[in-house]
Amino acid sequence: MASLKKSDKERIIELLDKGEDLPLDYKHLLFPPEKKEYELVYAGKEREEDILADTMAVPLQPIKTFDGNGNDWTNKLIFGDNLQILKSLQDDPEVKGQVKLIYIDPPFGTGDEYGSINGEKAYTAKLKGTHFIEFFRKRILFLRDILADDGCIFVRLDYHFSHYFKVIMDEVLLFRNEIIINRIHKRLRNLKRFNVSTECILFYSKNENFQFFNPEAPRKCNYCGAEKDSIWEDLTSPGLRNPPERIILGRNLLPRRGRHFSYTQSKINKMENEGRIRLNKDISYYDLNGTKIDFRPEYLQTENVPLDNNWTDIKGYAFMTGYPTENHEELLARVIQAGSKEGDIVLDSFAGSGTTIAVAEKLGRRWIAIDCGKFAIYTMQKRLLNLKSEIGNKGKKLKSNPFTLYHAGLYDFAMLKKLPWLEWRKFALLLFNCRDDKHRVSGLELDGYKGRSDVMVFDYQKEGGVVLDYGFIDDLHSMIGSKIGSQFFIIAPAASVVFLEDYIDKGSIRYYILRIPYSIINELHSKDFEAIKQPIDESQVNNTVDAVGFDFIRQPKVACSYSIEKPKGQLLGYAVIKIKTFKSEAMLKGASQLENRKSLSMIMVDFDYDGEIFNLDKSYYASEIEKNGWKVLLPLENLKKQIMIIYLDIYGNEYREIKTPQDFSNPKYVKRGGK
Ligand SMILES: C[S@@+](CC[C@H](N)C(=O)[O-])C[C@H]1O[C@@H](n2cnc3c(N)ncnc32)[C@H](O)[C@@H]1O
Repeated sequence: MASLKKSDKERIIELLDKGEDLPLDYKHLLFPPEKKEYELVYAGKEREEDILADTMAVPLQPIKTFDGNGNDWTNKLIFGDNLQILKSLQDDPEVKGQVKLIYIDPPFGTGDEYGSINGEKAYTAKLKGTHFIEFFRKRILFLRDILADDGCIFVRLDYHFSHYFKVIMDEVLLFRNEIIINRIHKRLRNLKRFNVSTECILFYSKNENFQFFNPEAPRKCNYCGAEKDSIWEDLTSPGLRNPPERIILGRNLLPRRGRHFSYTQSKINKMENEGRIRLNKDISYYDLNGTKIDFRPEYLQTENVPLDNNWTDIKGYAFMTGYPTENHEELLARVIQAGSKEGDIVLDSFAGSGTTIAVAEKLGRRWIAIDCGKFAIYTMQKRLLNLKSEIGNKGKKLKSNPFTLYHAGLYDFAMLKKLPWLEWRKFALLLFNCRDDKHRVSGLELDGYKGRSDVMVFDYQKEGGVVLDYGFIDDLHSMIGSKIGSQFFIIAPAASVVFLEDYIDKGSIRYYILRIPYSIINELHSKDFEAIKQPIDESQVNNTVDAVGFDFIRQPKVACSYSIEKPKGQLLGYAVIKIKTFKSEAMLKGASQLENRKSLSMIMVDFDYDGEIFNLDKSYYASEIEKNGWKVLLPLENLKKQIMIIYLDIYGNEYREIKTPQDFSNPKYVKRGGK
């Protein structure tokens, strides 16, 4: 506070007296940042403490476990916004401080022209840029806390933001390397700059002592042409040793002046037997005695060498899953082998097509994957259920370890209602960010606290089902009214509450009713709820999503007609789905007001549905479907006995239907979906 001048103090007092906002310039004088060597400062940068405290946690709802239960641990595939999920994982002792390796490949933020220099546009672009930096920073803070003390983190980036993100990461982690990797090569002409053929991975550790397994790779000489995988090296090294001579390919030879033969006679004999010794006639030398020798003895270097930070010898991207921006398995194998060992937990919170977890699975690691896209989730599900043992998805079939699919932030209420009481109680408390802390007030058992106010989870299952009515509130008030603060929270299923009010005032006490399902609790939060967004075309798949809050799944209303079309001259035809109506019923503000079909994100199809697991075969984005007159054409030759079709809305809600090829033969057939 010493640097605050007298005039500043007077000005601050004057503004406070007038009830006016303090200019941001005072921020660092009033709240000096901790002493750091440097810090990236930008508009909207929140305090670390506020981010960690204010981020809302959302409970994880288990949806399905694949391949039975794990013994102590089951791998986790989580659908939802990673910020809220990372906050929730912090409360899981199996995860917090246990993750040994994190790999993330966040969107690169390339959607806007951050580099623009034209006035207003440049300003908005920059502002968007700072939002993106803050989006990343928030997640890094939680990732750091989840990381084990000896863990490390690898972040894939490109030139747009890597320099900013490096500074952000330097603030909270320890820098190890910038690794250069390949991107997809483009050779555009007439650019006023160079083509870009690389991206980078920033490698950080949480502490000085961390796990690193000094990876090595087969020696490859970038300049050796045909001999790329091997290199012939001089059989001598600097310095003198005794005895100096060796018998090499039947000749008694001395090394050249000032040098000695690098290997013992027996090692040289062994290498000779392996065909790894040659006499290179292109190079001659004078030996210790000054005799000219017309060839140089050389050995074939086949040993692995320690890896450096230039990884352009392997591919950066792959194209196996049909998911854009799919990373190459070889790349992930290098990362995972460098920083983890078998049994360690590996986490990817921008998991996409699931390269990290597919490789983790092959290398015997445990894993956690998070993505906010349903398309990503179904792509990963399919990838895990069809794994092959070798990197690059070759070799024999590999059965994945059991994994559980969770939803976080978008819940299936029908499933929740079936939970046993104790699990329901836990879920309800977590959903409204209450502290689970049983305590008694005037002999009545309460369940926890929201802030400093008491919370009760209404036991609707008691005595075969009870309801929450005015009488209940009256009785409660007379029992504990004199012992509680000005707010009291009751969490209850909406169907058990018989009145409509969100709260009831009794004297100076406000009794809030937090209904499940119920999404509009903005008034209790400092931020408005934002829904998870699903892409409507491929270019949006890699957008950032910043969802806050929670909602409950509401099936969209779908009406389609089904027919067969056989284009002229083609032998095989198509099963055609024509979408007549698609309306979303999501509860978030404005969702149901969107025009017909405007809330469709995509259609996903399993051509050979086994009656149990949806195995994604093909996806069609809403933008393509619209261009095609709201028609989806499924090649008839692909259809098997049963087909499952998932209609996804932009909020992540699904409508599913099962069809047989015969259903398409009757053109009048129309199916109505939704409730
Ligand atoms: C570049 S892709 C990752 C690709 C992945 N490395 C692979 O090999 O397929 C980035 C992913 O981040 C996801 N994503 C963006 N914002 C997110 C958020 N807030 N929470 C969770 N996932 C998010 C996107 O859905 C997308 O799948």
